Amino acid sequence: MSDAGIVRLEDVGKSYPRGSQAVRALEGVSLEVARAEFVSVMGPSGSGKSTLLAILGCLDRPTHGAYFLGGVAVAELSDEALSRIRNRSIGFVFQSFHLIPQLTVLENVETPLLYGDVPAEEWRPRALACLARVGLSHRADHRPSELSGGEAQRAAVARALVTQPRILLADEPTGNLDSATGEEIAGLLHDLHSEGRTVILVTHNEGLARRAQRLVRLRDGRVEGEGRP
Ligand SMILES: Nc1ncnc2c1ncn2[C@@H]1O[C@H](COP(=O)(O)OP(=O)(O)OP(=O)(O)O)[C@@H](O)[C@H]1O
Ligand SMILES: [Mg+2]
Repeated sequence: MSDAGIVRLEDVGKSYPRGSQAVRALEGVSLEVARAEFVSVMGPSGSGKSTLLAILGCLDRPTHGAYFLGGVAVAELSDEALSRIRNRSIGFVFQSFHLIPQLTVLENVETPLLYGDVPAEEWRPRALACLARVGLSHRADHRPSELSGGEAQRAAVARALVTQPRILLADEPTGNLDSATGEEIAGLLHDLHSEGRTVILVTHNEGLARRAQRLVRLRDGRVEGEGRP
């Protein structure tokens, strides 16, 4: 894989069927993200940001255009190969944390490893190391309901890191947090970027978005503009 273009979209579109019509969530999107780049994505509600992230994260496939992930044409992969790539290469962080309430924090962090090829005896030490990385070791045995919003998002970041992905995708990760806690989570994402990870951050917060190396603006499913913030 070359250094440039760990992620490359060529003229990507995504439509969702709605009744007899189709909703065009993305249209003509071409975008390249370099390895270890920090890109933020902004745009009004409904402009296609989450759809874009779902495609980049291989949770969904484009209805037209091409997506290359680390040089691999995603369209040619079977669903099984796609989930394998997703599990190995991509970590997700969502606005509403998506932690499983019945599991402890440690068990939540371990979950992505259940679907990969990391030997079971490594699950616990890996998860503990990720909890330490986000400063949450003291909460390992707690349930998600016992965590503050910031702690829950730290747990979600630890879970995203546990497969050691090269790419972190974050969809409004500070949207449910007060501004000070949001700053902490943003700082954590920047630290993880400094360690060499590619980070793509969707945010409505102009201040956070401007700290990225590049800012992409979406409107009505199209890239309206991009450049240095
Ligand atoms: N599963 C789906 N089925 C049908 N339409 C969808 C689906 N997901 C998204 N859409 C539509 O696609 C468009 C883009 O949605 P998307 O969620 O990507 O926007 P967004 O920029 O993330 O918005 P927000 O800021 O509110 O999160 C919207 O018109 C939305 O209604
Ligand atoms: Mg969204």
